[in-house]
Amino acid sequence: MKLERLPPIKSSLKPTNHPYLTGAWTPQHEQVTAYDLEVIEGAIPDDIDGVYIRNTENQVHQPLGRHHPFDADAMLHQISFEGGVASYRNRFVRTRCFEAEQIAGGSLWGGLADPWGTSKRPGFGAHGGLKDNASTDVVVHAGKAISTFYQCGEPYALDPENLDQLGVAHWGPLDGVSAHCKVDERTGDLLFFNYSTHAPYMHYGVIDRFGKVTNYTPIPLPGPRLPHDMSFSERYSILNDLPVFWDASLLERNIHAIKLHDLPSRFAVIPRYGKADDVRWFEAEPTYVLHFLNAYEEGSEIIMDGYFQENPTPKPLKTAPHGLEHMMAYLDEASFRPKLHRWRFDLATGKTKEERLDDRNLEFGMINARVAGRKHRYVYSTTSKPGWFLFTGFVKHDLETGESWSVTLPEGRYGSEAPFAPRINAKDEDDGYLVSFIIDENAGTSECVLIDCKRFDEGPVVRIALPHKISSGTHSVWADRKFIQEGVIGA
Ligand SMILES: [Fe+2]
Repeated sequence: MKLERLPPIKSSLKPTNHPYLTGAWTPQHEQVTAYDLEVIEGAIPDDIDGVYIRNTENQVHQPLGRHHPFDADAMLHQISFEGGVASYRNRFVRTRCFEAEQIAGGSLWGGLADPWGTSKRPGFGAHGGLKDNASTDVVVHAGKAISTFYQCGEPYALDPENLDQLGVAHWGPLDGVSAHCKVDERTGDLLFFNYSTHAPYMHYGVIDRFGKVTNYTPIPLPGPRLPHDMSFSERYSILNDLPVFWDASLLERNIHAIKLHDLPSRFAVIPRYGKADDVRWFEAEPTYVLHFLNAYEEGSEIIMDGYFQENPTPKPLKTAPHGLEHMMAYLDEASFRPKLHRWRFDLATGKTKEERLDDRNLEFGMINARVAGRKHRYVYSTTSKPGWFLFTGFVKHDLETGESWSVTLPEGRYGSEAPFAPRINAKDEDDGYLVSFIIDENAGTSECVLIDCKRFDEGPVVRIALPHKISSGTHSVWADRKFIQEGVIGA
């Protein structure tokens, strides 16, 4: 392995016992490029060609308040596979706020769990008081990696091959872009939404594969909402108005308290290039949904899979350190209980049907992106450690036969969201690998593993050493090299 290091960044972070600044959430500040990575076990397959990119949370400066893991600075980690050889690089996403704090030498913004007024400068996001940190999600579109923020911020572009900073994508609208832009690899379209505390409270947009805005429309809502994700089928996008959102009376006093309202879930079905008047709303059982898997059209129905939370406003977690009980409950899948779930929106009748697909707590799922918008057969979910936002394993579902297979990581080893990397010339939907970064708390190291989805429960077929231990985080993406270069992959 050949290793190159970038000059160090400025940090004011002090030693701490915060559960989300230690262990698998210990921030990594080192930025490196490593070539010809060492294999610990197995062999790097030569039948994938592309990159896996993961966004992680790495607090650089001493927090002004309580610190929530989603307040931290974005770092993209990329592993590139080509011809049976792998290389790695990681870079901070140098947002305007990151640069401002580098100049100031300390934190300028408070976080999600802090009272209004903690920030030293005007804040960003739907919340209005936060650092715009781009640390939630990452997609690849029009040859660029786009890093985004769940509270809506500027879409930051990086080169997906070398992680060079390319600045803010030119198409970002005034109200920002939420995490969970969707990319339709067959057309190259990027679909996005944003939300805010001012009317119309939501917008939806489409950027084509050349970076041109081909749709941007208001989606009027009854008030401020907290959507996190969206989904799309071949012809429609599905947005949501779920009954879990800020308490309006407290919001007037700038207190951001989440409440489950006595309202149904509502889903907005809009043609991909439609306007507000084209929206058809469907009602469903009240819940909150962090992530949807996919949607597709069948007869008069749009079928959408995602994770239905049985307990979207959990009680404070008793095992959490004092002052962090509320925050840690909202990060704990064992508390909010997300279940693999199917919604069917019938365009002929306007009615919704729902069906639970599995009773386990599962989330952070992936499908083969080649079938996104069309009928999918296989779903890959993660399991998590009770009490923690840490991934302990993976579950593959065959939704046609109802079978499932699982991989549980050894104690002290935690995975990352694991997208599907199709084999070159793949024959089937599950002909490829799940790719994940592992944080090994026992050894103090990190590695990349691949699970062959045709032999899922055999576990990783290769373990590749990363040059340093990474921090945990949220979302990730796989992009084939051909897709990076061409911006589209044919049907
Ligand atoms: Fe998310």
